[in-house]
Amino acid sequence: MSAKVIVVGSLNMDLVARAQRLPRAGETLAGESFATVPGGKGANQAVAVARLGASVAMIGNVGDDAYGQQLRQALLDEQIDCQGVAVCPGVSSGLALIVVDASSQNAIVIIPGGNGLLRPASVQAFDTLLQGAEVIICQLEVPHETVAYTLARGRALGKTVILNPAPCTGPLPADWYSAIDYLIPNESEAQALTGQPVTDLTSAEVAASQLRQLGANNVIITLGAQGALLAGPQGMRHFAAPVVQPLDTTAAGDTFVGGFAAALARGESQEQAMAFGQRAAALSVTRAGAQPSIPYLAELQP
Ligand code: RIB
Repeated sequence: MSAKVIVVGSLNMDLVARAQRLPRAGETLAGESFATVPGGKGANQAVAVARLGASVAMIGNVGDDAYGQQLRQALLDEQIDCQGVAVCPGVSSGLALIVVDASSQNAIVIIPGGNGLLRPASVQAFDTLLQGAEVIICQLEVPHETVAYTLARGRALGKTVILNPAPCTGPLPADWYSAIDYLIPNESEAQALTGQPVTDLTSAEVAASQLRQLGANNVIITLGAQGALLAGPQGMRHFAAPVVQPLDTTAAGDTFVGGFAAALARGESQEQAMAFGQRAAALSVTRAGAQPSIPYLAELQP
């Protein structure tokens, strides 16, 4: 049976240090703990979809090292279709060096490894997966030519196309927008996309209008504890965030994207999918690590 959701994106091994605060430039800081945790925005989103109730296939690359085997196994353990996850010979797997501080904020450096070798042909080779899906999700931790190909192919096939523009340092190519059904940035990504400060609901509304004018059908700006804004053809709506005590915000955005996509694939309305994604993300920030923090559907049922 075909997977309802396809994720085209990155797999990283996260090397996570916890410390009271993030180190300053040139400083050596004693930390409190260290963990090696499966992550990567693409893989995290695939895990979120699988745990939150929809079938999912992943298209991506790992290196031919021990981390690559562990990253692939972590997806297989969640019943994720990994026929599109290739092992790149002579290359290391993607890595993320993460520091989490006492207030749950993080700083991340990524080393692309095999993710940097994901080409349009790697996606083209699994076109039957795209054809059989309802929702296609991309992020920006793989080469942009591959994202561009996937967005355009998803649009041509009439699928629901989601782009989580993360990480993001500037505007997207203008010809990407018309292929996007849901563009889902956080505040800093929305700021990078528009060149305007995005710090609260009012500035998010301005950014969302701008991004819709560029051609994205719907824009969802996630605002952490300030909730999320949905802007679409029917207007704008703010969704308040559930109140929680955060421990680690790593992969909160990925959990929202995966939860939102899973709910859409299960036939829920946009509004239901927004609220569901938010509840899943809120629970994830109360737990440490990327994939270990992502909740299961049963944990979210009333
Ligand atoms: O979004 C969180 C993810 O960003 C981490 O798992 C890390 O791998 C980086 O890609």
